[in-house]
Amino acid sequence: MTKAIVGIIGGSGIYDLPGLEDLREESVTTPWGEPSDALRFGRIGDTQAVFLPRHGRGHKLSPSGINYRANIHALKQAGVTDVVSVSACGSFKPELAPGIFVLVDQFVDRTHGRCSSFFGNGCVAHVSMAHPVAPLLRERIFQAARAENVPCLKGGTYVCMEGPQFSSYAESLTYKGLDYDVIGMTAMPEAKLAREAELSYATIAMVTDYDCWHPDHSAVDVASVIKTVHENAGKAATLLTRLLRDFPAEHEACPIGSDRALDNALITSPSA
Ligand code: ADE
Repeated sequence: MTKAIVGIIGGSGIYDLPGLEDLREESVTTPWGEPSDALRFGRIGDTQAVFLPRHGRGHKLSPSGINYRANIHALKQAGVTDVVSVSACGSFKPELAPGIFVLVDQFVDRTHGRCSSFFGNGCVAHVSMAHPVAPLLRERIFQAARAENVPCLKGGTYVCMEGPQFSSYAESLTYKGLDYDVIGMTAMPEAKLAREAELSYATIAMVTDYDCWHPDHSAVDVASVIKTVHENAGKAATLLTRLLRDFPAEHEACPIGSDRALDNALITSPSA
C-alpha cells in the first residue's frame, strides 16, 4: 500500500495553509537546486500534507524565476502522491466571474525559456500530456467544494503565458476567440513536471479578473488580483481543508496512469 500524501502548491496571495496540525518546516535541497521556500509538513485529520508557496514567502519569485523542477522534485522526495495547485487566473468567459474556482482539465503552454523537463541529459522520455489533470483528484476537489458550498466549476482550458506582463488586448481577444477559459502564468511547466514525476496533478484556477477583453471591466492590474485573492483565500482554505480531511489513506491508482507515466515513456536504451 502507498500512503496518500497531498502536496499543496499555493499561488499568488496563498502563502500558507491555515489549519495544518503538527506543523513542521524543513528547508530541503534537490538535484535541481532550491525550491521556492521551505516545505511545511503537517496534517489535517489523518491526511499528511506538504505545503509549498510557489512564489516563496513575501512573493519574491516571478513566474519565470520559479524553479519548477526543484519544487516538484522536493514534493516527490517528500513522498507526495497527489499535487493540488492553486493559481490566480484571468477569465475569458462572462460566466466565469471573479471569485469562481475552475477545475480545469486542459492546459495550453505558451511559456518559453523555462526548464520544462527532468529528462534530456543522457536519458530521454516523452510522457503523454493528452490528459494533464488527474481525473480522480479533480473529482475529489470538486466534491470537497460542493460539500463546502464553494462556487466551483469542472472543466476548462487554462492557457499559461510567460508574463510577467499581462496580455495585450489583441492577445486577450485571441485567447477568448480560441475558446480558452482562463489564463495564468504558472501551471506550466508545473503540470508537465508533475507528470514526469508520476504525481497526480490538478489545478484550482481561482478567477480574479476578466483579463482585458471585457468591455465592462477595466484591464487587470495587480491590486485587483490581490484584492480578489484575499477575498477568496478563506474559501480556498475551506475547500483544501475539506479535501484533506476526506482524502483516502491509501493512494488509489490514477485511472489515466498519471502515477505510472514513465512505464511507456522512456526511449533511451538501457544499455546505452
Ligand atoms: N493571474 C491573474 N490574472 C491574470 C491574468 N489576467 N493574466 C495572467 N495571469 C493572471
